[in-house]
Amino acid sequence: MRVLVTGGAGFIGSNTVDYLVAHGHEVSVVDNLVTGFREQVHPQARFHEVDVTDAESLERVFAAERPEAVIHLAAQMDVRVSTRRPAYDAQVNILGSLNVITCAVGAGTRKIVYASSGGAIYGEPDYLPVREDHPIRPLSQYGVTKHTVEHYLFLYAHLHGLRYTALRYANVYGPRQNPAGEAGVVAIFGRSLILAQPCRIFGDGEQTRDYVYVGDVVAANAMALGAGDNESVHIGTGIETSVNELHHALAEICGSRLPARYEPERPGEVQRISLDPALAAERLGWRPKVPMSEGLERTVGFLRERQAAGRLA
Ligand SMILES: NC(=O)c1ccc[n+]([C@@H]2O[C@H](COP(=O)([O-])OP(=O)(O)OC[C@H]3O[C@@H](n4cnc5c(N)ncnc54)[C@H](O)[C@@H]3O)[C@@H](O)[C@H]2O)c1
Repeated sequence: MRVLVTGGAGFIGSNTVDYLVAHGHEVSVVDNLVTGFREQVHPQARFHEVDVTDAESLERVFAAERPEAVIHLAAQMDVRVSTRRPAYDAQVNILGSLNVITCAVGAGTRKIVYASSGGAIYGEPDYLPVREDHPIRPLSQYGVTKHTVEHYLFLYAHLHGLRYTALRYANVYGPRQNPAGEAGVVAIFGRSLILAQPCRIFGDGEQTRDYVYVGDVVAANAMALGAGDNESVHIGTGIETSVNELHHALAEICGSRLPARYEPERPGEVQRISLDPALAAERLGWRPKVPMSEGLERTVGFLRERQAAGRLA
């Protein structure tokens, strides 16, 4: 299948591109490299350094590639950036996505797989693990913009027959997550522990998240190319892990005894979240496969390789 991956130079995107190429798909990538890396893009994928907010350039890419399916991952994905720069967040995440959707319609694309967020759209949940029909009450600009795009997808499916699946990811972690950013606690803690620096925990560390391994997310992206039409589904484990538990597990793997440094909690962060993956099993045949202990080992292994190559500091 001809698949265009937006954000294909990023963490989830580059892993997705590798998988698609390995499974015989013809892959093209759109990315402006704002947080992605050119060298992460598989050499067999055609690369277009284009910003999704640049409608004309994007149209040219779609006209040339004529993708049968799009996996749309390009986004401003940092909650704190969305708070500091809400207009920029909306420009990339809403207007950029609208460009991708309208270009897809124009190019005769049959399906869009969209990276939504299960961690950012529900606010403080009424029950756990959350199901997809839980009320939407985002507590950040990022949560608002990620969810808004699901409405456009619904509309374009209705108006133009463009099929979509919105995958509401939990907290994704694994190789290639950038430890230098503000998001991605597994990569950030892993880097700190390897460099023998204390990890910073905001609040008491008892807040919980649902951590899903990037390899499982990549499999979900690929499965959604052919299933789960016109639905929003969770890609998570349903398991809550506290920041303290995560820190402890990573410290064990890294052989570190350095205590964490506790700092005041940050506003806008939910206290607990986990996502029920039952609908993904039903609609996509997807289940998380990589247990957290194994996923963390693989991630630390990757970070150690980076360190050995002098690319961790
Ligand atoms: N990582 C997570 O835990 C998580 C959770 C829920 C949803 N998501 C979503 O998954 C997607 C991928 O996230 P990621 O973790 O791989 O982040 P990432 O920052 O590594 O990837 C995003 C990619 O999009 C590119 N990009 C950003 N703005 C762009 C623009 N205007 N035009 C073209 N390209 C642009 C970046 O250069 C980068 O390569 C995002 O849509 C994010 O919102 C991620």
